[in-house]
Amino acid sequence: MLETLNQRYAIAKVLTFQAGMDNQPIAKIHNDHATAEISLYGGHVLSYKPHSETADVLFLSPLATCAKGQAIRGGIPICWPWFGEDPEGLGRPNHGFVRNRLWQPIAAVAIDRGTTQLTLGLSDTEETRALWPHSFDLAIVITIGATLQVELITRNTGHTTFSLTQALHTYFTVGEIQHVRVRGLEGKYYLDKVEGSTRKLQTAAIAVTSEVDRIYLDVPANLTIDDSVLDRLIRITSIGNSTAVVWNPWITKAAAMGDLGDTDYQTMICVETTNAATDVVELAPGDTFRLSAAYQIDR
Ligand code: BG6
Repeated sequence: MLETLNQRYAIAKVLTFQAGMDNQPIAKIHNDHATAEISLYGGHVLSYKPHSETADVLFLSPLATCAKGQAIRGGIPICWPWFGEDPEGLGRPNHGFVRNRLWQPIAAVAIDRGTTQLTLGLSDTEETRALWPHSFDLAIVITIGATLQVELITRNTGHTTFSLTQALHTYFTVGEIQHVRVRGLEGKYYLDKVEGSTRKLQTAAIAVTSEVDRIYLDVPANLTIDDSVLDRLIRITSIGNSTAVVWNPWITKAAAMGDLGDTDYQTMICVETTNAATDVVELAPGDTFRLSAAYQIDR
């Protein structure tokens, strides 16, 4: 399989396929701007590290695994076609069913000397239709350059309209969670999932001092993670969403998670670009919806 992938999609000196976590194929990219790793399992970006950085932009749990159909803990999981719990309460997996499936490469191109773009795709099968009775084409376009850009494109290839919620569930590396502030959501309301989805107002920059699990409403296109320990700002620019999720499991939840170390909550934060809660996408037959996020490091 690796040989075929490399014959068709490798880019000399820039992109190769290798065996990665639990022997699943990953694309390794090294270009003028950055290094990156992308797993076909989950269509999942595992790592993005501009050459200017000592720490990866993305957090990947050292205990992450994709054995036994598990979703990878860290990087950029894709939650689709629902965000969070099964909306119909049928016992289907949290965050949908594409983060633990093998995606296929569609294209790998060198846009210019420093920028590489890998597109992966996934379509419905008998198995997915048993879980969710719709026909779809899903593509994730991942651009590795001076910024990391991900665009999740959903096309309804069936004959009936479907609705979906979704997320680019990005895990970021931070120096020390106590010294992190998430900015851009001041003055916005959020649903506090730690307190039964109570609606609350965010009055200042977000500081994490206990478990945080919030769906922010009516969000702007630009958010910033201000990390004074790693001395960097991560700028998030999104298109296609009106909600965003901020999540940190904190001590008790982290300790209960088998694929996250007990102290890992100190060096990660999820700021997710979502269509969640009332931000539901309705997609008519033949229509396409694009959700995208770009991540840029600034000082
Ligand atoms: C967040 C949710 O997006 O993902 C949390 O808001 C959830 O409620 C977290 O705990 C992790 O989910 P999972 O399924 O990857 O453990």
